[in-house]
Amino acid sequence: MIPQDIEKYCIEHSTRPSSAVSELGDFTKNKIHGSHMLIGELEASILAFLIKLGHVKKILELGTYTGYSALAMAEQLPEDGEIITIDINPHTTATAKTYWDKSPHGKKITQILKPGMEALQSINDQFDLIFIDADKNNYSNYLDWSLLHLSQNGSIVIDNTLWYGKVLTPGLDKQTDSIISHNLKAKNLEGYTKVLLPIRDGMFLITRS
Ligand SMILES: C[S@@+](CC[C@H](N)C(=O)[O-])C[C@H]1O[C@@H](n2cnc3c(N)ncnc32)[C@H](O)[C@@H]1O
Repeated sequence: MIPQDIEKYCIEHSTRPSSAVSELGDFTKNKIHGSHMLIGELEASILAFLIKLGHVKKILELGTYTGYSALAMAEQLPEDGEIITIDINPHTTATAKTYWDKSPHGKKITQILKPGMEALQSINDQFDLIFIDADKNNYSNYLDWSLLHLSQNGSIVIDNTLWYGKVLTPGLDKQTDSIISHNLKAKNLEGYTKVLLPIRDGMFLITRS
């Protein structure tokens, strides 16, 4: 959504993820299929900012992929902070684990290899930050779960909520319609403050009012 040179300028003027996270990003871009799915540096910096602002200790992430966003967030957590991250892909998750194992922050990360909705059934904790970045068709279900598991001052961040601009065209395909109905549900939430930012592919931020 943002011109590339402007995004680069913003990245250069923001707190950036460590070289370990950049290395994982580079490996993913060079060797792993689907690297367009990475959140990228600007979004990592925004998540870092939210983690610091909210004194976040516990994070739930839906959509691990190669572990880039999980490691970027883990670096921002205090020593006793923790992240649970969920994905169905054993191959990309294996890559994630090799990079987490090399980092002193990797010990904060617990990975669950299951479909998101199934994994959530056995999680009853409250989280200070919930980052939704997995299968788009379940976005509304993930949002429902997140609202029930958000700590008092917690935030929910939902990625890809502009879906390459396709949200302006209902009826294109199932994923687009799922994101449109998720966005409508988020918009109509009462008792929450929300903002849909045109950063990367759209970041929807939600917190209690
Ligand atoms: C956009 S990527 C996540 C990117 C990651 N957050 C990052 O930036 O480093 C989406 C991930 O969702 C996973 N996924 C797809 N369907 C899923 C499901 N039903 N349950 C859990 N994860 C799923 C995919 O395997 C993929 O790794």
